[in-house]
Amino acid sequence: MEQTLLRKCSERKLPQFFTSRIQKLKWRSLSLVSNSERPLIEVQAVSRIYSLGAVPVAALQGVSFTVAKGEFVAIVGKSGSGKSTLLNLIGGMDRPTSGEIIVAGRTISQMSRDELAHYRRNMVGMIFQAFNLIPSMSAWENVAMPMLFAGKAQSERQARAKELLARVGLAHRYNHRPVELSGGEQQRVAIARALVNDPYFLLADEPTGNLDSRTSDEIVHLLHHIHQQGKTVLMITHDHILAEQLSTRIITLKDGEIICDEAHKPALTNLQS
Ligand SMILES: Nc1ncnc2c1ncn2[C@@H]1O[C@H](COP(=O)(O)OP(=O)(O)OP(=O)(O)O)[C@@H](O)[C@H]1O
Ligand SMILES: [Mg+2]
Repeated sequence: MEQTLLRKCSERKLPQFFTSRIQKLKWRSLSLVSNSERPLIEVQAVSRIYSLGAVPVAALQGVSFTVAKGEFVAIVGKSGSGKSTLLNLIGGMDRPTSGEIIVAGRTISQMSRDELAHYRRNMVGMIFQAFNLIPSMSAWENVAMPMLFAGKAQSERQARAKELLARVGLAHRYNHRPVELSGGEQQRVAIARALVNDPYFLLADEPTGNLDSRTSDEIVHLLHHIHQQGKTVLMITHDHILAEQLSTRIITLKDGEIICDEAHKPALTNLQS
């Protein structure tokens, strides 16, 4: 599919001069509308240069796009194209070298340390390929962990974790530790954790990358269900079938640039979840 997308894109790709002019006009008009009409996420001319080694690496180069509430965006592209770098920037875990990221009208780079911590904890739900659960904690404790910092009482945290674990089909694994869970179950706990503070959107980096195809299907249906219930999702995937099944839009990165950004009809749209 990537090849098809690349072909479609190269036919439509405008010279950088035109795209940057169009983007500037879009931003100017955006500043005239109220927050409720703004896109949920605005990525404006974002670059990220890593300068650790002798040769700087331009992981992202002038990337611009917006995401409206309710979209399911798949971000695809070859290894090293800048996908994780982009997600980390949107998630507030890293800062752009230049450009801005604005979420729900707030510019991330202008947030104080405390505001950024609040943003990461409450507005963003992160799902990783390696699940990233805390091994010494039970399923419910992992799910409720993001609530700890908000100073919520244990009874409230437990009740919320129970509700979320039930939602991902794991009510019966409430007290299990990650080592006592299958890969698919661990990812479902991680998804429950990502949802616990009811974030504005989910960021998923290869959520099925460590799973076999049957377990991967379970996660696909869970993500589909979460999206159907109204959650905005940005998902990195190497798996084109996954992108085909779930996404309402596919953005293709190559060498740190967007080479394709197209609306898409998700194959799962008409299935019962
Ligand atoms: N912390 C870092 N320091 C230096 N270079 C980095 C760092 N993180 C990523 N890079 C480089 O930036 C580029 C983009 O990396 P990134 O991890 O975003 O790619 P990716 O598209 O997610 O790849 P993959 O599909 O393999 O996960 C790569 O060339 C990578 O080597
Ligand atoms: Mg990556």
